[in-house]
Parts: sequence; structure tokens; C-alpha cells
Amino acid sequence: MRIELFRRGYKVHEVQAAELLREAFPVAYGEDPEEEVHNILQENRIAAKAVFNGEVVGLVGAIPQYGDTGWELHPLVVRKDYRGKGVGAKLTAFLEEAVAEKGAVTLYLGTDDETGATSLSNTDLFQDPFRKIAEIRNLKGHPYEFYKKMGYSIVGVIPDTNGIGKPDIWMAKSLVR
Ligand SMILES: CC(C)(COP(=O)(O)OP(=O)(O)OC[C@H]1O[C@@H](n2cnc3c(N)ncnc32)[C@H](O)[C@@H]1OP(=O)(O)O)[C@@H](O)C(=O)NCCC(=O)NCCS
Repeated sequence: MRIELFRRGYKVHEVQAAELLREAFPVAYGEDPEEEVHNILQENRIAAKAVFNGEVVGLVGAIPQYGDTGWELHPLVVRKDYRGKGVGAKLTAFLEEAVAEKGAVTLYLGTDDETGATSLSNTDLFQDPFRKIAEIRNLKGHPYEFYKKMGYSIVGVIPDTNGIGKPDIWMAKSLVR
């Protein structure tokens, strides 16, 4: 398997990337994953792909949101049959190096909990959010734990962004400290 920058122009990989997004995020991209691939491959962004036997089996992207210094990791997906083999970790590390070269100081992301997958769901996060963050538990394999292993810290939550009791969990990693 190799990890490399994902640039526009190779249609076969773009179609495979769209399929990964459709499968992993049916609510967000079920209708038009091709448009999201188009967005991911915009010139001002950075994207990387994991390729095995000529097929895209993983994809990660980053968006500059605060000039060159603050980038948002979005999206990250590994094909189902390749999960748990270190592909996500390699993609993330590759992306971190690539954005650091562009001047990134902080890489951050929002990871939704729409399915009751953590103890931050189904609770009023306007009440005592920092204690609840400190005591977070993973109930159903939520990916925040993957990001923690990659060195990201939970830096906040936005309560109810996906509906009552369905927060977005914000995580960030310093690329310079
Ligand atoms: C989250 C995702 C990208 C992880 O990719 P992956 O290739 O399976 O992850 P890796 O194999 O590199 O895992 C690295 C470490 O994180 C752990 N990990 C991975 N996913 C995890 C999860 N959901 N919960 C807890 N730990 C997890 C692994 O066990 C491994 O730990 P180890 O180093 O102690 O062995 C992948 O599961 C995925 O595509 N999920 C669907 C899309 C998604 O949720 N994307 C993120 C949205 S914010």
C-alpha cells in the first residue's frame, strides 16, 4: 500500500473516492459524493489517498480555515475491509506532514456523535461541558478514540448541532509543539 497526495485528474480514483464517501457517510454524501470529491480536490486544499493494488482504499483531506496556520481535517475515511490495519493512522500522519509544510500550526476536526456513540450524546452539554468532556466514554466505537491515539485532544463540543443530544466533538493537535 502507498500513501500519496491526491490530486485532480485521475477519474478512476475520483470515482472510487466518491464510493468510499457514499458508503461511510450516506446521510451527508449519499446523494452526491462526487461533488464532495470535487471539493476535496480543490487547489487550495490538501488531500491524500491510500492506494492498494491500484484502488483507493482510504482518503483524507484538509481545508485551510485560518490563513495557513489553522487547518481543518476533513474528511477521513478508510474502506471497510481495510479498517483496523493502520491505514487511517498512516493517512493522518501523511496529512499532518503535508499541512505542516504549508505552515500549519494546528490541525483540528469536528467529529459528530449522531448515534449515541459516546457519553457526550443524550446529555445537556450546555451544563458542565468540561467535566463531561473529561469523563467521556466510548459506547459504540466512536472515532474520537482513533484521533486521541493520533495525538488529538478534545478541545470542545458544540451541543445539539445534529439535533438535541447529538453534538459535534471538536479535537485539535499541535503540529509544532
Ligand atoms: C476512523 C477510521 C478512519 C480509522 O481508520 P483505521 O484505518 O481503521 O484506523 P487504524 O487502523 O489506523 O487505527 C489506529 C488506532 O486507532 C484505533 N481505532 C481506530 N478506529 C477506532 C475507533 N472507531 N474506536 C476506537 N479506536 C479506534 C485502532 O484500534 C488503532 O489503535 P492501536 O494503534 O492501539 O492498534 C475508520 O474507522 C473509518 O473510515 N471510519 C468511518 C469513517 C469515519 O468515521 N471517519 C471519521 C469521521 S470524523
